[in-house]
Order: sequence, then C-alpha cells, then structure tokens
Amino acid sequence: VMELENIIFKKDNKIATITLNRPKFLNALCDQLIKEINYILDLLSNDDEVHVVILKGSHKAFAAGADINEMKDLKLISHIKKDFIKPWEKISKFKKPIIASVAGYALGGGCEIAMMCDVIIAADNAKFGQPEIKLGTIPAAGGTQRLVKSVGKSKAMEMVLSGSTISAEEALSYGLVSKVVPIEDLDKETINLAGIIANNSLPILILAKEAILRSFESTLSEGMINERRLFQSTFELEDRKEGMMAFIEKRSPKFKNN
Ligand code: CAA
Repeated sequence: VMELENIIFKKDNKIATITLNRPKFLNALCDQLIKEINYILDLLSNDDEVHVVILKGSHKAFAAGADINEMKDLKLISHIKKDFIKPWEKISKFKKPIIASVAGYALGGGCEIAMMCDVIIAADNAKFGQPEIKLGTIPAAGGTQRLVKSVGKSKAMEMVLSGSTISAEEALSYGLVSKVVPIEDLDKETINLAGIIANNSLPILILAKEAILRSFESTLSEGMINERRLFQSTFELEDRKEGMMAFIEKRSPKFKNN
C-alpha cells in the first residue's frame, strides 16, 4: 500500500475521484505525484465497482505543469537514462472514462494531463496554456500533439509559440473543453456527468472509449475498421442484449456489466 502525499483519493457510487493536492506548488507534477496517480489508476483498472474517474485540482490550480525544480538541472543524458515523462502516459492509456475537472491554472504538463483525459469540464476561472517556450523548452507530454487536434493548427501554434494562456470561454469556443460552469458548480456538474456515464455498462464504456481513442490516435480508415470490430464485439455481451430489449419493452435497462 502506497502512502499518498500528493493526491487525495475517494471512491463513491461507481465514481472514483483523484484530487491533486500539492497546494504549495500549485500541484506541479513531481515524480512522486505521478507515481501516486499511477498507483491509484492500477488499482482502479482492476476494480469493477468503479466505472468513471474524476481528476481534479484545487480552485486555484488544476496543475501548473511539470515540476520546474526537479527539471532545472537535467541534461540530455539524464532524459535518455530516465524519461521522466514516460510514466505520465499511463493516464492516457487508462481504459475507463476519465473526466478532468479543471479550475484555475492548467499549464504545461497540467494542460497536457487534462488533454489525456476523455472529457474536460472547466470552471469559469480556468486558464489553459503551454508556457514551456518561456522556459526555453517545448511541451513534452502531448502539448504539441493533442492540442493541435483539439484547437486546430493556428491556435495551437499561437499558444505554443507565444506561451500565452486562454480562458475557459476561449477553450470552449475552440473545442478544448466540453463545458464551462461557474466555479461554485464545478464539483456538482462534474459529478452529475460522471454519474450519467457511470450508469452505463462498464465493458461497453471501455469499448466506446477505445473506439474514439483509436480514431484520435490514428487515421480515419484505421479508426473506422476498429470501430466496426468493437461494435460487433458488443453483440457478445449480455448488456447489449439487455439495452436493446429494454428499448423494445419500453423500460429502463438493468445493466449487469457483463
Ligand atoms: N514547478 C515548480 N513549482 C511551481 C510550478 C512548477 N511548474 N508552478 C508554480 N510553482 C510554485 C512557485 O514556485 C511558488 O513557489 P514558492 O511559493 O516557493 O515561491 C508556488 O508554486 C506558487 O506559485 P507563484 O507564486 O508563481 O503563484 P502565482 O499565482 O504568482 O502564479 C503561475 C501562478 C502563473 C501558475 C506561476 O506559478 C507559473 O507561471 N508557474 C509555472 C507554469 C509553467 O511554466 N508550467 C510549465 C512547466 S514545464 C512543463 O510542464 C513541461 C512539459 O510539457 C512536461
């Protein structure tokens, strides 16, 4: 059992919440914090009670990026020996739905881990940006990749080359986030969406997520082939039959997650 110093973990009603909790450093993503997230994600991927995960920070900061103190003395050789970003990828490979619930700063690595999640809900005070250029470096956890796919080339270039941040409303208008809510409603709105998702069948959620991610991470034709195969595979599941029978019988489905 790992002692959690940088995150808070809670489980309630099919929803697990991971709260980044390193307030003195605005949730800067030190190695130990990432280790703790990964430890919890490993537990959650084997926990059939949990259908959806929420990743959140504080009202002031979702996360202000990679830990600059840990990074400042690194040389190329240390990156080659130990790629400190590598463990972050576990968030993007987690198979169940993850919602990023973002208030305050989501900068650099903070913006990148939000983009690794499946849905981003933003509070009205959220600020997104890739300020690495101002530190004399470039984004390293998908900031030059996922951001382009969300906001398009011109806006991604503007953000990455200038290092300037965008507001929650701007993020909504470009499609980086799915919703902007008043900060006092952020938790309620996030849990509301998580609850709606969590009511669905877990294996079907996993397949639906996989289908969208394959499209996002590959070509349209490869994504289409994979989508068709995953669709066909749902026909082997009891919950697919139950969902369709419930429709025919004009009642709500009772999913058994198998
Ligand atoms: N790493 C380490 N410490 C950080 C940090 C970071 N990314 N961001 C903030 N902190 C620390 C500050 O050093 C400060 O510590 P002290 O109190 O000991 O001085 C504390 O958190 C509070 O921060 P500020 O006093 O700066 O708070 P502010 O409200 O004045 O400003 C901010 C907030 C604009 C977010 C500012 O903290 C900031 O610009 N942070 C750095 C953002 C950044 O450049 N992120 C990118 C990191 S690189 C990266 O992420 C690489 C990658 O792609 C993987």
